[in-house]
Amino acid sequence: MTKEDPTRWYDRIAPLYDSFLLGSYNRARRRTMQQLRLEPGQTLLDLACGTGENFRFILEGIGPTGTLIGTDFSERMLARAQRKVEKNGWQNVHLLRADARTLSLEMLRQASGQPDLHLDRVVCTLGFSVVPDWEEVFARSWAMLAVNGRYAIMDWHTPRKNIFTGLVNRIAASDISRKWWEPLAETAVEFEQERMAGGLWCIVSGTKRQ
Ligand SMILES: C[S@@+](CC[C@H](N)C(=O)[O-])C[C@H]1O[C@@H](n2cnc3c(N)ncnc32)[C@H](O)[C@@H]1O
Repeated sequence: MTKEDPTRWYDRIAPLYDSFLLGSYNRARRRTMQQLRLEPGQTLLDLACGTGENFRFILEGIGPTGTLIGTDFSERMLARAQRKVEKNGWQNVHLLRADARTLSLEMLRQASGQPDLHLDRVVCTLGFSVVPDWEEVFARSWAMLAVNGRYAIMDWHTPRKNIFTGLVNRIAASDISRKWWEPLAETAVEFEQERMAGGLWCIVSGTKRQ
């Protein structure tokens, strides 16, 4: 594993990912979806969706008439997500293997079979501490969001460097010192933020006005 290629690491740990997490982020995932202000029928991108741990919380909000597109660069994480989709019979979930650094609206339109698709919501959980070139990834996905759309991020952050944070970074192939909420805070209106887990996890969201 190298910091430059977290996808390879996630390919390796994909079979263990869900059982390792044991639903520990579920409350944070639910809070993230509340900040997103989901409504039935909306179209949402789950960026770096991994094994699809967010999906049931998203689908509670957008319902069967909404469209969920999950993208990730790890084939094996996505294969796990696909299993969840099939097991639950979710008809309105589309999965796409794509590097977040080169993702485009056109790719999402093709993957969903909706040539006029626009994005009402974008969510990224536990992704911005992991993906390379995260600032560019944010800018690219923010540009894909429709005007009046809402964007939410949940992830770890601490400036502290110690054995614990080193271990987290090692296990997750992450850099949890990144100030990943800053571009959203600078660009969005109706910015909200919330800390959990003694301040280590942060949930932020904002609305795009132009
Ligand atoms: C900690 S996991 C988070 C997965 C999921 N969002 C969740 O909340 O459980 C980080 C994810 O980022 C993905 N990832 C890393 N680099 C990426 C890239 N360049 N493009 C897309 N996904 C990437 C990994 O494959 C992995 O699934």
